[in-house]
Amino acid sequence: MIGRSAEMDKLYRILSKVAQSTHPVLILGESGTGKELVAQTIHASGPNPEKPFLPVDCGSLVPTLIESELFGHLKGAFTGANRSKDGLLVSAESGTVFLDEIGELTLDLQSKLLRALQEKEVRPVGANHRVPIRARILAATNRDLAAMVETGTFRKDLF
Ligand SMILES: Nc1ncnc2c1ncn2[C@@H]1O[C@H](COP(=O)(O)OP(=O)(O)OP(=O)(O)O)[C@@H](O)[C@H]1O
Ligand SMILES: [Mg+2]
Repeated sequence: MIGRSAEMDKLYRILSKVAQSTHPVLILGESGTGKELVAQTIHASGPNPEKPFLPVDCGSLVPTLIESELFGHLKGAFTGANRSKDGLLVSAESGTVFLDEIGELTLDLQSKLLRALQEKEVRPVGANHRVPIRARILAATNRDLAAMVETGTFRKDLF
């Protein structure tokens, strides 16, 4: 990551601070300003850089696919589910799942994500049981989430 200016120095200070923790971090910025680079930097300077960094583009997948990507599914949970599969939140272990374009998540998935964050466990699609997760969650968007909260398209509690 390059750049020396008052703004970039502020960013480096914030990065070195948040990287130590495993709290979720929301990265806001216009398109092309380096949000994914910031996410990779947080992961690489965090406590488990050797664990996976798994990006998920919440804007390009249909909601049902995102759910099974993130939370996993059981064999036979839907047409084409020929075998059970762990979700990325499980397979990341103590690494990082990067939710890119989080502003595109449907309200239903926002609730499920909030639950996963709070309970530190997920329910795979088609399953009755829950699976514990350890992954750190980073998220990014170029959308104005505060405005989306006002219009009811983004959950206030998740924000
Ligand atoms: N400070 C920086 N130093 C070096 N490279 C940078 C820096 N900021 C951005 N880049 C580079 O600019 C490009 C765009 O960055 P990135 O993909 O992280 O942006 P983004 O905010 O995720 O964009 P988008 O909203 O389009 O997804 C990448 O190739 C990234 O490596
Ligand atoms: Mg990006």
